[in-house]
Amino acid sequence: MNKYSILFLTAAGIFSCNPEPKPSIVELSEEYYSGGVLGTTFNETAAAYEQPTVAVEDNAAMSLAFKYGEALFEKEFTTNPDGVRCGLGPVSVRSSCIACHPNYGHGKRTTSYNSKEYGNGYLLVVTNADDSYVSALTGMPQTQAVYPFLPPIDEAQISINWLEYQDEWGNKFPDGEQYSLIYPEVTIPRAAFNVPMPDFYKVRLEATIGIYGTGLIDAIPDDSLIAQYNYEKNLGYFELNNEKYNPANFILENDGTRHPGRYTYGLTRGTLQNGPGANAIWNITNVTRSNRRYHYITEAYAVAMSQNADIQQKLGKSEQEIYAYLKSQNLESEMTDKDYQDFMVWHRGLAVPAARNLDNKDVKRGREIFYSIGCTTCHRPKWTTGADNYTGDTLVAGKLPRYPYQKIYPYTDLLQHRLRMQNDIRTGWCRTTPLWGRGLSQKVTGASDRLHDMRARNVIEAIMWHGSQESDARRSVEKFRNLSKEDREALVKFLESI
Ligand code: HEC
Ligand code: HEC
Repeated sequence: MNKYSILFLTAAGIFSCNPEPKPSIVELSEEYYSGGVLGTTFNETAAAYEQPTVAVEDNAAMSLAFKYGEALFEKEFTTNPDGVRCGLGPVSVRSSCIACHPNYGHGKRTTSYNSKEYGNGYLLVVTNADDSYVSALTGMPQTQAVYPFLPPIDEAQISINWLEYQDEWGNKFPDGEQYSLIYPEVTIPRAAFNVPMPDFYKVRLEATIGIYGTGLIDAIPDDSLIAQYNYEKNLGYFELNNEKYNPANFILENDGTRHPGRYTYGLTRGTLQNGPGANAIWNITNVTRSNRRYHYITEAYAVAMSQNADIQQKLGKSEQEIYAYLKSQNLESEMTDKDYQDFMVWHRGLAVPAARNLDNKDVKRGREIFYSIGCTTCHRPKWTTGADNYTGDTLVAGKLPRYPYQKIYPYTDLLQHRLRMQNDIRTGWCRTTPLWGRGLSQKVTGASDRLHDMRARNVIEAIMWHGSQESDARRSVEKFRNLSKEDREALVKFLESI
């Protein structure tokens, strides 16, 4: 259902002969339109995360492109150069996007790393002692390879152990109710690597974030992000990751412009057009395109594979020939420009599910609490998009759906904070996750695990992981703990409704 049918229902409710129209359909407040008038879907079925925005639906050519682009996200890539969706060589992280982003949502918590398992949305984050990436591996390390190449990591040797955690309150609220906390410990033995590794390395897991709505986030002006940073800095409640807001550190785009980060937990991407999805369609599946005619591999990998006598023999090629292939900058494009454009229309065209039940009494109470105990400092409810005139990457500029001047409700400040949880990632800096649409997670993906490594199995656990003594959210959690059970549940109900 789109906004027009809702308005129609409203009118029917008011003008029908029924003397008492149901209050819930009489008026929808702005907050129901999580993705703004142009970016919200009222579909709340199991397909809620994969709907096109109104901006796409209102344009026949874009609706068609959206359908073509959707297939590139949902279907498997293959190694057949004469077939559709060719890629994966010589190494890949997964064979499809959806393998990690089950039904377009967060991934699910698992106890093993299996790249063939649908919904195991984990990326391995392998770093040096100072949390910088190990340079012998790609930032997103691959565990799949095309014969006779070897994957950089043999995934059969990866183990993920889930350990119990006791917080300082003994995992108990003052009223006696208990909760449990678990966190992952990941180990990969040295023998699992087919590239030379440094003496010390550590491994963390990073799970997927939802994809819907990233087009709306893209339409927020850079200035608004910087204003939010300055606002929180002036509040002085906690330290911010100041390095990220030094303009010299902004992310360099193809057209030479620089932008502050807004995507990924690491805030490593500044625009959708050079964002995690636009990069993933090249590096996750190793699919070349006209402006990326090279493999996503490291120098260390090219050296190790080309020097491997077994691979030389199986390919019947010399070290030099194998190295030249692996490092070539002139490979054939496996994806046409048209495919890429369709893919980006789909990507920027995904709607956010409308909020639900906001007029419910408990949800209203939960909303009041969310605003009063400090959650909104980081989970900023509302943003307004700008003119949304993207002019960067010439392959797609002017061809994508636009969302000018929309009032949207992602519930994130798009900044990083430190919650300082056990076995935290990247020195603890993590972008505040958008909360919009999450309440439908169970229905849409079959799981509702949360946080950057899916350690929280429900909302209460997610909130309690915000509570360590050093956490930037400590004060909110202290207030949360002291709420009555009824009020804690009302807050959860509110989060499930947005
Ligand atoms: C190996 C699993 C995996 C696969 C496959 C994968 N992703 Fe992701 N994706 C992730 C993880 C993990 C994150 C969060 C990482 C981070 O924040 O750095 C993420 C984040 C994203 C985001 C950012 C969301 C945000 O709010 O910042 C988008 C968009 C995205 N992926 C799109 C895609 C697309 C499109 C594909 C296919 C071309 C894809 N992903 C394939 C694991 C995967
Ligand atoms: C200091 C900033 C800050 C405050 C205050 C804060 N959060 Fe968060 N929140 C974050 C960050 C950062 C993450 C991502 C952490 C991660 O995944 O490791 C997050 C993640 C979450 C998630 C999990 C999202 C997901 O789907 O993975 C929920 C739920 C959540 N917060 C709810 C709350 C509630 C409720 C409050 C108030 C009691 C609150 N937060 C206060 C910063 C904050």
